Order: sequence, then C-alpha cells, then structure tokens
Amino acid sequence: MRKHPWMIAVPVLVIVLAVAAALAGCGGDSTTTTTAAPVTETTADGGSMVDAAALYSANCESCHGADGSGTIGPDLRTEDNAAAIATQIEQGGGSMPAFADQLSTDEISALADFVVGLE
Ligand code: HEC
Repeated sequence: MRKHPWMIAVPVLVIVLAVAAALAGCGGDSTTTTTAAPVTETTADGGSMVDAAALYSANCESCHGADGSGTIGPDLRTEDNAAAIATQIEQGGGSMPAFADQLSTDEISALADFVVGLE
C-alpha cells in the first residue's frame, strides 16, 4: 500500500518554512539596526553627539559663508549671544528660514555655540 504523498510533503514543507523563518529572524537583527543620520548620532548611553561644524556647513554655510563672514546672510563672526542665535535659528527672521522643524534643540544649541566660536 502506497502512502499518501502529502504525508511526507507537509512535514518537509513545515521544516523548510521553519528554517527559512529562523534564518530570516537572524538576518533581521542586523538589517533592522537603525542608521543614524550622518551628522547626529545618539550614543549608547542616550547622550547626544552633535557635529556642529557639519550642521553648519549643511544648513548655514550657503548664506553665511564657510567662515561665517556672510554672503546672503550677515557676518556671524561678531555674534556672541548664544540664546539670541538659538532663537534666530529656531524661528528664522528676515529672509532667513526657521530651522525648528529640521533641527533638534540639541542641534540648535550646538550650532549656537558653534556660531559664538566663529571669529
Ligand atoms: C537662506 C539663507 C540663510 C540660511 C540658510 C541661514 N541664514 Fe541665518 N540669516 C540669513 C539672513 C538673510 C539673516 C538676516 C535676517 C534679518 O534680516 O533679520 C540671517 C540672520 C542670522 C543671524 C542673526 C544675525 C544678526 O546679525 O542679526 C544668525 C545668528 C544666523 N542667521 C545664524 C544662522 C545659522 C546658524 C544658520 C544655519 C542653521 C543660518 N543662519 C542659516 C540668511 C540665512
């Protein structure tokens, strides 16, 4: 008497699916690791590491110049009030766009410190 072919096919299929799922699960661990944005990285302890110089060249340089001496926007080298600079970055003003939607408060305060340091 011949066995029904599905009695072999079903267990084999189950094993194949289980192995595939296990492999997919393992692979998933490495592929689901979120890649931090290039200029901002969150450290393992939850602290944040902001590369203000990179943020400046990405967001501000086009209007304020690489050295802060100004092109479309004014010279920033004389700016030394971090709170006022942070407000300007956050809200914009005149023909400068607001950055509140694009930059985190950490990034804005790091940029404000960076601008204070420009000379
Ligand atoms: C699209 C061009 C543009 C970009 C991009 C830009 N700014 Fe400005 N920024 C200006 C202009 C124009 C002003 C003058 C605003 C005004 O007339 O009140 C200004 C003013 C400022 C001021 C106040 C200076 C002063 O003398 O009153 C600061 C500080 C400043 N910008 C910093 C930044 C920083 C930091 C960035 C990047 C996050 C940035 N800006 C991006 C155009 C720009």
